[in-house]
Amino acid sequence: MKPFSELSEQEILALAISSEDEDARTYATFANMLMDKFPASGKVFVEMAEEEHEHRRRLTDMYQKKFGDFIPLIRRSDVIGFVRHRPAWLMKHASLEKIRDYSEIIEAENYNFYRRAAKRASDLAIKSLLNELALAEKGHSSLADRLGDKHLTPDARVEEEEAQRRLFLLQVIQPGLVGLMDGSVSTLAPLFAAAFATHSTWETFLVGMAASIGAGISMGFAEALSDDGKLTGRGHPIIRGLAAGVMTAVGGLGHALPYLIPDFWTATILATIIVFVELGVISWIRYRYMDTPFMRAAFQVAVGGFLVFLAGILIGNA
Ligand SMILES: [Fe+2]
Repeated sequence: MKPFSELSEQEILALAISSEDEDARTYATFANMLMDKFPASGKVFVEMAEEEHEHRRRLTDMYQKKFGDFIPLIRRSDVIGFVRHRPAWLMKHASLEKIRDYSEIIEAENYNFYRRAAKRASDLAIKSLLNELALAEKGHSSLADRLGDKHLTPDARVEEEEAQRRLFLLQVIQPGLVGLMDGSVSTLAPLFAAAFATHSTWETFLVGMAASIGAGISMGFAEALSDDGKLTGRGHPIIRGLAAGVMTAVGGLGHALPYLIPDFWTATILATIIVFVELGVISWIRYRYMDTPFMRAAFQVAVGGFLVFLAGILIGNA
C-alpha cells in the first residue's frame, strides 16, 4: 500500500483509469440487477456506466500521449485512504435506495480524489482533465433526480453534502470499529488469565488496564501511520491515531472495569456477562457496517472471542 501523497502523476492517471473501469462495471452490475423490476432506473445506470467508460477512454488517451502504452495496474485497494466498498456483484438483494446511497458515496469519493489529484498535477493538460472529471463526478450526484426519486429534496447541494458526510463517517467508523473489536477481543486472554491466576480483583484490574492501554497504543500507532489524510481529508494522523487508540482502549476497559468490585465472583460474573454482550454487539456492528454476512460475523467474533476468553481462563487456572 502506498499513500496517495506519494503517487506520481503517471501513477495517479493509472489509478484513475482502473477506478473508472471498476465504477463502470459496478454501475453496469446495478443496471443488470435493476433492469427487470425498475427498467427506468436500470437505464440510468446503463448511462452512468457509459459515462464512466468515456472517462476511462479520455484518461487512457491522455496517459498514452504523456507516458506511452504501458499502463501499470494500480487499484484503489493499493492506495491508502480509500474506503473498502462491498463489491457490487455480492449485493444480490440490494434495494434501489441502497444502490443509490452506495453510488452517491462512490461519486463523492471520486470527486474528492479528482479534486486533490488535480491540485497535485503539474502538467497543465493533465490538471485540466482531472478538474473536468471532478466536475463530471459532481454532476452524477444529481443521481437521485435522474432516478426520479420524489422523496428527496430537489436541491442537489444537500444530497452532495449528505454523500460527503456518509463517506466521512465510513472513513472514521471503519477504523474506529476495528479498534473497538481489536481492543475487546485481544484483552480477554490476559484479563481472565490474571483473574484466575491471582483471584485478586485489584491485580486483575491492573492487568486489564495495562492490556487495554497497551492495545490502544499499538492500534493508535497503526492508524496514525496508515493514512496521512491527504486523500481523505479526514484529519491529522495524530488526532485519528488518538481516536483509534482510545476506541481500542475502551473496547478492553469494558470488561476490566468490573474488577473494581472487590468481590471476586461478583466481578468475574459481571465481566463475563459484559464480554458476551460485547461479542454480540461486535457481531452486529460487523454485520451492519462492514458488510459481513451476520452468521459469519457472529461466528468469527463470538467463537473466536470465546476461544480467547477460554484460553485466558485455562491458562490462569494452570
Ligand atoms: Fe468517472
